[in-house]
Amino acid sequence: MTQSLTIRRPDDWHLHLRDGDMLRAVLPHSASDFARAIIMPNLVPPVVTGAQAAAYRDRIMAALPEGADFTPLMTLYLTEDTDPNDVARAHAEGLIHAVKLYPAGATTNSASGVSNFDKVAPVLDRMAEIGLPLCTHGEVTDSEIDIFDREAVFIDRVLDPIRRAHPSLRVIMEHITTSDAADYVRSNDSGLAATITTHHLVINRNHILAGGIRPHYYCLPVAKRETHRLALRQAATSGDPRFFLGTDSAPHTDGAKLQPCGCAGCFTAPNTMSILAQVFEEDGALDKLEAFSSLNGPAFYGLPPNETRITLRREAPTHPASIDTPNGPVTVFDPGFDLNWTT
Ligand code: DOR
Ligand code: ZN
Repeated sequence: MTQSLTIRRPDDWHLHLRDGDMLRAVLPHSASDFARAIIMPNLVPPVVTGAQAAAYRDRIMAALPEGADFTPLMTLYLTEDTDPNDVARAHAEGLIHAVKLYPAGATTNSASGVSNFDKVAPVLDRMAEIGLPLCTHGEVTDSEIDIFDREAVFIDRVLDPIRRAHPSLRVIMEHITTSDAADYVRSNDSGLAATITTHHLVINRNHILAGGIRPHYYCLPVAKRETHRLALRQAATSGDPRFFLGTDSAPHTDGAKLQPCGCAGCFTAPNTMSILAQVFEEDGALDKLEAFSSLNGPAFYGLPPNETRITLRREAPTHPASIDTPNGPVTVFDPGFDLNWTT
């Protein structure tokens, strides 16, 4: 039985670090295992300009623990007023690595997102020209569409038309939750990839709703039925370069989660690599973990893989069940099984 596994240091291609006290509390948990992360821009107010992204990057660097080796890869939040020149400038400076599309109202702090997709066509054209990828929160927001169908409908109504209108635009479907999304990614030869979260490899909708409601498993896009979870497992463990890790680790205090209307998000930064090692081992695919968490992402983003390595050991990890922040505790995602790998 394999007792240890050394892989190139992983990156997280979708991460929420927040700001201020929360940033300082959660950042060490990502920086300990991950070398780089694509940083989500859905702050309040959102990170919409290059100047705001530069200031946010400085705040992240200032919050890093002494000696940490972690590079935040910044993104801009796409609005109907986004200036293509500002985007191109921030990309040319090496500051931003993607632009994030939130359909208005789709999730946490998405009110400034896009309602009229025609209005962002000039920005998407410019991004296609300069090779800057678009990250998408792939859910329609139409209240008539069932929440469990919103990802599949997004592909038909929004994503596919965008890709046809901008064929050379590189697109990452973030945190996919359905076999429809995995199939859509596979049906394209190039320019399209998907991130998969840790939690969507572990939970289905029963975990959220059967036998009592479990707010700590509520995230967006919401976990779907078991067949979809299995399709995600298959995609993640296949080694297919179009699928890679984006944890979507999204900390909210317990006070914000345990409400009549609680926030969406699972905080997986502390135990993601332990969970993934177990998931990949269960599926007989430990040899594919490095591709998923350390190789496929940089290849799609046009960056070199990390030169440093981490070693996972077969040993029970010691992650806390929750972390303290000045605003209250944040519960760490509970995979519902005992973990036996540690970093
Ligand atoms: O569950 C989620 N939480 N999904 C998102 O898209 C946003 C995130 C957050 O920012 O809390
Ligand atoms: Zn997210």
